Amino acid sequence: MRVSWGLLAFPAAASAIENGINGWLRYAPLPNNERPPNLRLPGAIMALSTNKTSPVYTAGQELQAGIKGILNQTLPLYHEPDEWLGSTILVATTGEFHGGKPAATLADDGYLLHVRPGNVVILGQTERGALYGAFDYLSRIAQGRFSDADLIANPDAPIRWVNQWDNMDGSIERGYAGASIFFRNNTIPKDLNRVSQYARLLASIGINGIVVNNVNANANLLTDANIDGLGRIADAMRPYGVQIGISLNFASPQTLGGLSTFDPLDRSVISWWTDKTNRLYRRIPDMAGYLVKANSEGQAGPLTYNRTLADGANLFAKAVQPHGGIVMFRAFVYDNHINPADLKADRAKHAVEFFKGLDGQFLDNVVVQIKYGPIDFQVREPASPLFANIPQTNTAIELQITQEYLGQQSHLVYLAPLWETILNFDLRADDQPSLVRDVVAGHRFSNKRGGYAGVVNVGTNTTWLGSHLAMSNLYAYGRLAWNPNQDPQALLEDWTRLTFGSDPLVLGVVTEISMASWPAYENYTGNFGIQTLTDILYTHYGPNPASQDNNGWGQWTRADHNGIGMDRTVSTGTGFSGQYPAEVAEKFESIETTPDDLLLWFHHVNYTHVLKSGKSVIQHFYDAHYAGAETAQTFPIAWESLRNKIDTERFNDVLFRLRYQAGHSIVWRDSICQFYYNLSGIPDSTGRVGKHEYRIEAEAMALKNYKLTGVNPVETASNLTAVVLVSNHTSGEATTKLNFDSGKYDVTINYFDLIGGKAHYKAFLNGKLLLEWAGDLEDKLGHTFSTKLDGHSATRVTIRDVQIQKGDVLKITGVADGNELAPLDYIAVLPQGVVD
Ligand SMILES: *[C@@H]1O[C@H](CO)[C@@H](O)[C@H](O)[C@H]1NC(C)=O
Ligand SMILES: *[C@@H]1O[C@H](CO)[C@@H](O)[C@H](O)[C@H]1NC(C)=O
Ligand SMILES: *[C@@H]1O[C@H](CO)[C@@H](O)[C@H](O)[C@H]1NC(C)=O
Ligand SMILES: *[C@@H]1O[C@H](CO)[C@@H](O)[C@H](O)[C@H]1NC(C)=O
Ligand SMILES: *[C@@H]1O[C@H](CO)[C@@H](O)[C@H](O)[C@H]1NC(C)=O
Ligand SMILES: *[C@@H]1O[C@H](CO)[C@@H](O)[C@H](O)[C@H]1NC(C)=O
Ligand SMILES: *[C@@H]1O[C@H](CO)[C@@H](O)[C@H](O)[C@H]1NC(C)=O
Ligand SMILES: *[C@@H]1O[C@H](CO)[C@@H](O)[C@H](O)[C@H]1NC(C)=O
Ligand SMILES: *[C@@H]1O[C@H](CO)[C@@H](O)[C@H](O)[C@H]1NC(C)=O
Ligand SMILES: *[C@@H]1O[C@H](CO)[C@@H](O)[C@H](O)[C@H]1NC(C)=O
Repeated sequence: MRVSWGLLAFPAAASAIENGINGWLRYAPLPNNERPPNLRLPGAIMALSTNKTSPVYTAGQELQAGIKGILNQTLPLYHEPDEWLGSTILVATTGEFHGGKPAATLADDGYLLHVRPGNVVILGQTERGALYGAFDYLSRIAQGRFSDADLIANPDAPIRWVNQWDNMDGSIERGYAGASIFFRNNTIPKDLNRVSQYARLLASIGINGIVVNNVNANANLLTDANIDGLGRIADAMRPYGVQIGISLNFASPQTLGGLSTFDPLDRSVISWWTDKTNRLYRRIPDMAGYLVKANSEGQAGPLTYNRTLADGANLFAKAVQPHGGIVMFRAFVYDNHINPADLKADRAKHAVEFFKGLDGQFLDNVVVQIKYGPIDFQVREPASPLFANIPQTNTAIELQITQEYLGQQSHLVYLAPLWETILNFDLRADDQPSLVRDVVAGHRFSNKRGGYAGVVNVGTNTTWLGSHLAMSNLYAYGRLAWNPNQDPQALLEDWTRLTFGSDPLVLGVVTEISMASWPAYENYTGNFGIQTLTDILYTHYGPNPASQDNNGWGQWTRADHNGIGMDRTVSTGTGFSGQYPAEVAEKFESIETTPDDLLLWFHHVNYTHVLKSGKSVIQHFYDAHYAGAETAQTFPIAWESLRNKIDTERFNDVLFRLRYQAGHSIVWRDSICQFYYNLSGIPDSTGRVGKHEYRIEAEAMALKNYKLTGVNPVETASNLTAVVLVSNHTSGEATTKLNFDSGKYDVTINYFDLIGGKAHYKAFLNGKLLLEWAGDLEDKLGHTFSTKLDGHSATRVTIRDVQIQKGDVLKITGVADGNELAPLDYIAVLPQGVVD
């Protein structure tokens, strides 16, 4: 009799340290009051597979570890039916269970779950389906849900992938959580434990595929040594049913293979790719396929040889077809050298222009992977019209869990509500309901394949994404890809219970701040579809609205002295709105019928244009920025109410980030308001913009060894001026007398935290030390912002509840380090309840 006792794959519950490594799969002990008094579990686990690589086998181990962690019961685990005749939690494929017959009601990867006291049956149509069922069962008991169940769960779409943008040198494009877990020093590391752990998280939310390297791909991935390394990655993920795919560099036959061409119709090129593909499949027989970024942002592609994008995609499709592989071909093809003087030019139109004419020309194992909006992962975009323009082509939607334009995991932004606006966007193709989610799942146009690709740049940090709270995005992504008809808040609540437990106070706070986070972020960054007003030429993080216009990238706002917004109408603008099916096109063609939240995406209006709310556009900009920043101030306060309800490690890490976000939201608010005030000349009707009665500018303080400096863009410093030490080997002081009424205040200090040094600061009140800190956000947030004084590096610390007498003296000392000349912007002395 082969019985395994307590062979726990990842004994989550054993470690008391909550460093995030187990994500939502902590299997933390369920408090007694959440367990049914007469809980009756089956006597054993029966996982019907003796193949240690099979997800069914994994399911058995996972059930054993989970039940041990959650309920402190060690159930024996068997793999052959005759080994145990008592009651069981049975997990198997339908084929194994019914003697070879699949169940008619189950789709591929679907599962059946039957729960009764003392009897649990989990059947998967595929091996991984059985594992999904086991994770569903475990998620229920981890959340204290022990009720009977009888359900069939089928995925809405067959493709539920994630994309990593990992480079072979170990760096990650748009990664904010340390180095790559897949690559190091241009090779695949020996220890792939983190890769297995990642596969476990992915499987638990129904993800069945992962592309492990950056879409800006390195041809060297295809050397024999690296193919073997990829094989080891696939081996590490296979027990979880996660198949790997890779991104290809279109020019590889030339750059790696030494051929004179990479023309997709050239015989030598075809045979080069066929040979590489066969080698890959020899090592990885279940490889999912390829992802291709071609003719985009400098990447090579078929257009170089006057071949179509379909010719390019089909080249790979033919190579993987005999192996059952698929090709995800990115629709992110656009010209990044368009002329801003041309009022008809519009990057948003390019995807349809490139792909519409190719509909029907792609082989049936090609899936065109389309970013959710026509530009690039912005805070508010309409759904890409391409979803409605290529009905004969398989499509997948590309979402971004990585918060590239959305606060880079240093801001809390729960994204599922944003995705919901896109997935439920009704394109009205042929005047019929045509939700984006039904298009990509293949339901609307009867396509065989399709689904979801989420960009998830996990790194070596134990939190995976750099921030504990950001993991709700990954969790919700997987659950939505499985079933897009779920409520974002309900998914968030599941995640919260699994991650932090079921305390109603914790659940309430995490729900409240997460659900407010996207609307708040939209409020303090960019409103009405004008996009995230970030620095598009540098790190895509802090404010820099001017960077959007007057360059070839086409993320234009067309803001000038009179008005703002891209006229994308057919009648007077770029014609983009005409790319939607008639009903939708008509709606966006006119200002009256365009919803306010997309007004500036589709129309150029004067700042004085009056909205449906009765407010002018510019006043809404001011109001929204103030409201959004004010909302962000409530996040750390709400979180603080959870002290002692959450382990210290996660409590402190999240608190630090939320405080940082509250400070940076003020930087955003002031920069954007100042920028449009300056541009339009229209004051804020409530008088807030540019007037800060509780601030003392550093340039107005008594300075020793400090000098005035400009910042770029100017609006990212209060009063457009900051101060820095006179040299990088010195220290200095800024001193001021506080002429405020005696009382209790929060004192904030706004400064700049750069890459390339860790300056040291101290703040004193009447010579008594209030706070000491270093310019080391790059370590604390694990995120490199900027080498300059700008909207990325601008930040704030707050000292709470300081008792101040009129005439007290506040002094800040700064000590330079490296390039960081202890920059200071201003201090604010805020009465209780005042946000400024
Ligand atoms: C074990 O299961 C894995 C995953 O399904 C499969 O790839 C492999 O072929 C199986 N091995 C055997 C010997 O059946
Ligand atoms: C778990 O169960 C064991 C054996 O029944 C018991 O000794 C131990 O105290 C339990 N642990 C917890 C945390 O309840
Ligand atoms: C990186 O790889 C190169 C080539 O194999 C080797 O010479 C070098 O020592 C490696 N560097 C590190 C830091 O491992
Ligand atoms: C592609 O076509 C254009 C015009 O149609 C022609 O000028 C150019 O030489 C062609 N390029 C190649 C590589 O065939
Ligand atoms: C994870 O990132 C945090 C900063 O966000 C850092 O303090 C910590 O050291 C990192 N841990 C690991 C294991 O990389
Ligand atoms: C917008 O402002 C310009 C300049 O003040 C003015 O000429 C134009 O009539 C205004 N347009 C509308 C629709 O109010
Ligand atoms: C966003 O701004 C609007 C307009 O000022 C306001 O009504 C709304 O409450 C704000 N929402 C959040 C979450 O900040
Ligand atoms: C206003 O904008 C101009 C042009 O960008 C800039 O030079 C100036 O510094 C700005 N002034 C203020 C007060 O923001
Ligand atoms: C703004 O900065 C200028 C110098 O650049 C200074 O003269 C002025 O006093 C400052 N304003 C305030 C309100 O501190
Ligand atoms: C310090 O400043 C000098 C010149 O001002 C510069 O050459 C040097 O590189 C700086 N040192 C560091 C560590 O930044």
